[in-house]
Amino acid sequence: MRFLITGGAGFLGSTLANQLAHDGHTVQVLDDLSNGRREHLEPGIQFTQGDVNNVPLLWSLLQDVDCVYHLAARVSVAQSILYPRDYNAVNVGGTVSLMEAVRATGVRRVILASSGAIYGVQTEQPVHEADFPRPDSPYAVSKWAAEQYVQTIGALSGIETVVLRIFNAYGPRQSLPASHAPVVPRFLYQVLTGGSVVIFGDGRQTRDFVYVTDVVAGLVNAAASKAAVGQIFNIGSGQETSLTQLIEAISSVTGQSITPVYNQEKSGGVQRLVADITPARMALGFQPHVSLTDGLRRLLVEDERFKRDKE
Ligand SMILES: NC(=O)c1ccc[n+]([C@@H]2O[C@H](COP(=O)([O-])OP(=O)(O)OC[C@H]3O[C@@H](n4cnc5c(N)ncnc54)[C@H](O)[C@@H]3O)[C@@H](O)[C@H]2O)c1
Repeated sequence: MRFLITGGAGFLGSTLANQLAHDGHTVQVLDDLSNGRREHLEPGIQFTQGDVNNVPLLWSLLQDVDCVYHLAARVSVAQSILYPRDYNAVNVGGTVSLMEAVRATGVRRVILASSGAIYGVQTEQPVHEADFPRPDSPYAVSKWAAEQYVQTIGALSGIETVVLRIFNAYGPRQSLPASHAPVVPRFLYQVLTGGSVVIFGDGRQTRDFVYVTDVVAGLVNAAASKAAVGQIFNIGSGQETSLTQLIEAISSVTGQSITPVYNQEKSGGVQRLVADITPARMALGFQPHVSLTDGLRRLLVEDERFKRDKE
């Protein structure tokens, strides 16, 4: 098949692009490189640097494309609180631009990378796709709005759509910005460089950590599944892990004892979040294979930043 991946030079996008190219598909990537790196992409993948809001550019890239993976987005919850307009422009505006271009060029299917963040505080766990979203950040609002645009424009225009709500993905190449790094690479980096591991809140808050190759398997399957059309799926491990348990797992794979520093002043986000992945199992044949300790071990071996710091 012929794919375009927006945001395809980023963490998830580049892993997906390389997998699809490896499977023999034709892959193009559009990325403005605001958070991605061209070097992540293997030879043979056609790369265009540009903005997902550039509709004429989208039109030219989408000629003869069968399926678009839409991953281009600003991705930090903390940053979105400071810059909601920017998050709206890229995550919502960029999605509308893409859907207009898809409609004009006759692309058959769009797969949107949405987020487990849209659930916010839910009293019942694990969360199901039918639970009413309670987004608690501009980032989460923007992903929910993007879902609505993809599904609505898709339904009006006969475009097949699939929405995947990805939970806390981790793996090699995930960006590690100093001010708002995701928790897995942040803790690992701090442990390996002798820094303090700071937990916001009491450490009992839970998340659903899912290894990148499992996420990519879900994305790949979403392109071919007939049962997935028009649907929304949670993509997580289905395992609930507290930050304290994450620290224990990091301690066991690195062999280092860790004494975290607790910052109770700063909110640790929602108290519990774990995905029900039954619908993804049924419609996408989704089956997470990598446990948290195996994922952390792979990260230590495969990510240059952690390899160098270990030596
Ligand atoms: N990583 C996770 O845990 C996670 C969880 C839920 C959802 N998601 C979603 O998956 C997608 C990929 O996330 P990621 O973790 O790989 O982040 P990432 O930042 O590595 O990837 C996003 C990519 O989009 C690009 N981009 C940003 N603005 C753009 C624009 N205006 N035009 C073109 N490209 C632009 C960035 O340069 C980057 O390469 C995002 O849509 C994110 O919301 C990720």
